[in-house]
Amino acid sequence: MRADADRSNQHETGATMDLMEYQAKQLFARHGVPVTLGVVAETPEQAQAAAEQLGGRVVVKAQVKAGGRGKAGGVKLAETPQEARDRAQDILGMSIKGLTVRRVLIAPVADIAAEYYFSFLVDRSNRTYLSIASVAGGVEIEEVARTNPDAVAQVSIDPVTGVDDAKAREIVATAEFPDDLADDAVDMLRKLWTVFIGEDATLVEVNPLVRLGGGSLEALDGKVTLDANASFRHADHADFEDTAAADPLEARAKAKDLNYVKLDGEVGIIGNGAGLVMSTLDVVAYEGQELAGEHGSGVKPANFLDIGGGASAQTMADGLEIVLGDTDVKSVLVNVFGGITACDAVADGIVSAFRLLADRGEPVTKPLVVRLDGHNAEEGRRILEEADLPGVEHVDTMDGAARRAAELAAAR
Ligand SMILES: Nc1ncnc2c1ncn2[C@@H]1O[C@H](COP(=O)(O)OP(=O)(O)OP(=O)(O)O)[C@@H](O)[C@H]1O
Ligand SMILES: [Mg+2]
Repeated sequence: MRADADRSNQHETGATMDLMEYQAKQLFARHGVPVTLGVVAETPEQAQAAAEQLGGRVVVKAQVKAGGRGKAGGVKLAETPQEARDRAQDILGMSIKGLTVRRVLIAPVADIAAEYYFSFLVDRSNRTYLSIASVAGGVEIEEVARTNPDAVAQVSIDPVTGVDDAKAREIVATAEFPDDLADDAVDMLRKLWTVFIGEDATLVEVNPLVRLGGGSLEALDGKVTLDANASFRHADHADFEDTAAADPLEARAKAKDLNYVKLDGEVGIIGNGAGLVMSTLDVVAYEGQELAGEHGSGVKPANFLDIGGGASAQTMADGLEIVLGDTDVKSVLVNVFGGITACDAVADGIVSAFRLLADRGEPVTKPLVVRLDGHNAEEGRRILEEADLPGVEHVDTMDGAARRAAELAAAR
């Protein structure tokens, strides 16, 4: 429901970082939230060794940034270390919601007496924070909200006062946690609140929050989304980045401060401003589809790359280098509407990128379609004409340029 909807909305902004369960639990532990950290394994052998080390029965849990791991077969019980190895073998390499499992968490089997749900999140529509709590935990909270909405307590939190003792008691009472748990639950919530605020998170979710046989509470699972805009305050959060999963081109683009997303088509796209780049993607996809009849299969955009407002020649050269570095790219479309960005700087950037790559022994062999309009467009076009770069053509309109770029890609 809201927690998940919020999470997926935030993906679109790109300014957040989702953590895996074991990472979320590491943060929980730093703030005194009761958790069992377990051991992370990347191979079946490591899983077996971890189970031996933990001694006794364990759970093998897929570590991916997606919900519903249990349902997908990514959470399995193992009675012996040998079984832990076998279950890890099954789970490693599995795909859950399109994400490949590269790590599993080996954790001792907990003696669960009851499973609850708890989360703090940013409530965008009401411009505040919200807590969601339910004694019907373990299962998907969306399902509970649908079938038994009364069992889901939503309590809004004043951002100024936060979760003090009174607010924590209000949440615990509204959710109807058992009376004998109230003090422990209040303590747990206040610690989870320090995770939420102290780590600049936009989501902290515990499902299930369990009551153990002995009566104490523990966070058995954890989901945390961090606000990446606050990463300058948290040097340690960089350790959570999943560099293995990131596309190498995306990593290079990030190092150069470029907004680049790899897609699976053939037409490289560079533009200024997210809105213009998005519409360029649409037009190229449309033209590619239109051409499909003539050339067999339709070509599609190969990436999103926004060089931003006021981009310098250097930014343009960096961007072109990244896009040309994608072996799937068959043609490139540069679509710039000059406002703060000056088209002559863009043209200079194109010329320097060609020189740089030629000097490096990797001359540009892919065709480039350029559409420059707006601020200093005349000057930009003149620079390109004079440079007479191989394979570079100028087209006046966005639609025309998109069509030409798609044609060139389809013909190769
Ligand atoms: N250490 C453990 N000991 C015993 N049972 C566990 C343990 N960890 C998880 N489980 C059981 O497995 C269920 C699912 O685990 P978990 O919540 O971690 O994954 P999930 O909910 O399927 O994944 P996600 O939260 O990504 O949707 C829990 O509700 C609990 O019943
Ligand atoms: Mg869970």
